[in-house]
Amino acid sequence: MPAPLVEVRSISKTFTRKAKAAGGSVTHKALDAVSFSMTTPERIALIGPSGSGKSTLLRSISGLHTIDRGEGMVTVLGSTVQANGRLSSDVRAIRSRMGMIAQQFNLVGRLTLFTNVALGFLGKISGLRSLMGLWTSQEKQTVMRALNHVGVAAMAGQRANTLSGGQQQRGAIARAIVQGAEIVLADEPVASLDPVTARKVMKLLVDLNERDKVGVIVTLHQVDYAKTYCNRILALKDGKIVYDGPAAGLSDDILKDIYGAEIEDAYWGEPHA
Ligand SMILES: Nc1ncnc2c1ncn2[C@@H]1O[C@H](COP(=O)(O)OP(=O)(O)O)[C@@H](O)[C@H]1O
Ligand SMILES: [Mg+2]
Repeated sequence: MPAPLVEVRSISKTFTRKAKAAGGSVTHKALDAVSFSMTTPERIALIGPSGSGKSTLLRSISGLHTIDRGEGMVTVLGSTVQANGRLSSDVRAIRSRMGMIAQQFNLVGRLTLFTNVALGFLGKISGLRSLMGLWTSQEKQTVMRALNHVGVAAMAGQRANTLSGGQQQRGAIARAIVQGAEIVLADEPVASLDPVTARKVMKLLVDLNERDKVGVIVTLHQVDYAKTYCNRILALKDGKIVYDGPAAGLSDDILKDIYGAEIEDAYWGEPHA
């Protein structure tokens, strides 16, 4: 059997910050013994109220946060990202197989969309060649095909900072395609977009999963997006997983428990079509 795409075993993450009033420092457990695994390419929505630990979990999977010492470990595509609070030495190599998409600022503003997407080759080709923009004709074709696939080929020569939010997110997805990412971790990728654009971007993530068999983990602010576009939902509350199952099984009672008074905000910011 192939290795799981992602395996998160009993990870905790404690943040410590200085606080004068508390007479020194206060600690906050952002993740508390979180475990889950993705064995086949799925679309997992990570939901939960603000501050529940969604971003911390994604950053722990990509090795941008080290987890607390102890038995916790993160494995991606059969390689250990981190264990016992220490990053593995080959974390860069593992990261080159993961695509990362944030809420915004995914692209380098002064570079063209084309160059931003071609940067997906970084790690596979020499840095000097990429710095000089010396792409082979095959690489150029790959970039243009990816841009075409996400629907922004016409803007290839435009500086990224002149693109709309939606166009930039499409560019970030194209870069993940060029990178050949086997897993995409997206942190609130549609939070800054209007609903129509947001749906288009979500459909591209669905397509990445179905067409290219990429495992997608996406944090979403709104429950409806999670239910509509993902097959599995992981809900976090106070750093603990309180639901892990099919989107259809997420009942209103569970949602009320997760979101409490914030429940109204957890639905579409628009009337149902
Ligand atoms: N770098 C950090 N330093 C201190 N506390 C942090 C840091 N990052 C996150 N936290 C805290 O950890 C908790 C979880 O944060 P986060 O993972 O960003 O939540 P979410 O993405 O679900 O909104 C919050 O209480 C947040 O304030
Ligand atoms: Mg977050």
